[in-house]
Amino acid sequence: MQFPEYRPRRLRRNENFRRLIRETRLNVDDLVYPLFVIEGKNIKKPIDSMPGNFQMSADNIVKETRNVRELGIPAILLFGIPSQKNELATGAFAKDGVIQQAVKKIKNEVPDILVITDVCLCEYTSHGHCGMIEKGEVANDATLEVLAETAISHARAGADVVAPSAMMDGQVMAIREGLDENNFEDISIMAYAAKYASCFYSPFREAAESTPQYGDRKAYQMDPANGDEAIREITLDVSEGADIIMVKPALAYLDIIYRAKQEFDLPLAAYNVSGEYSMIKAAANLGWLDEEKAMVESLTAIKRAGADIIITYWAQEVAKLLNK
Ligand code: PBG
Repeated sequence: MQFPEYRPRRLRRNENFRRLIRETRLNVDDLVYPLFVIEGKNIKKPIDSMPGNFQMSADNIVKETRNVRELGIPAILLFGIPSQKNELATGAFAKDGVIQQAVKKIKNEVPDILVITDVCLCEYTSHGHCGMIEKGEVANDATLEVLAETAISHARAGADVVAPSAMMDGQVMAIREGLDENNFEDISIMAYAAKYASCFYSPFREAAESTPQYGDRKAYQMDPANGDEAIREITLDVSEGADIIMVKPALAYLDIIYRAKQEFDLPLAAYNVSGEYSMIKAAANLGWLDEEKAMVESLTAIKRAGADIIITYWAQEVAKLLNK
């Protein structure tokens, strides 16, 4: 069929037509809201590089979690910022660590929301790398035990889902085995399966105080130039026992999200990371972009590409919009 028989504009003539043929719809059910926990009481400290986000002590995290639940968002993702860091990242798996205490408190006071915990060491190591350092390098296998220990301690505190993000080979299997040995067979793993060495994490590193003190993360996170390798990474995590797979970041990696959705039949999460959020915030503050429109367009694109779950700092704002 050729022009003028088929005229796509016929079905775009007004909003009712557009509603009728719209293929992708954002839903509050898709969202995960990230939160940054610090030690102390009654603290709510704005994160300059991520307007609208705060480092909060556990009491305020509980309050915020209530708001998130009121909006109908099914899950939060927690990052911990300990007051003390050291070489061995002992704060990551401490019984009374910042995350462990916060999870316990949330589970007591707001039981009906899923608590996902990021399992990584960069917030807890004095050098800011995601693993143990041996001979000046991030040692893969020595890190696995520590990650498993950390995941078990999160499960013990009451986490529903652990999300390993250190990009160590074998981390999903090590964590699955550790959880199972400790009778946490029901705790699921959301694996940061294809996580790139991206510049779009820099606002987060200010928020989580996790910038590496030397070097970068290119020896463990993926090269942004690679697509086939993402499929290999995800294949490994699936075979090691991941329940949910993740692609991160999202907007510059929509092709990876699309391929992951085509090739794997597990629920797929996409992480709309800090830099993707903050660049739009910054442009909106300058009056160069309409934030609400840019937010909806970005999140819709991530879903259209194939994401079932979207982790985003806009979760509350977009939920308010969708609930209207
Ligand atoms: C921990 C971790 C990072 C992010 C999530 N988990 C930072 C990093 O890998 O340096 C980034 C999230 C974001 O930018 O919003 N390793």
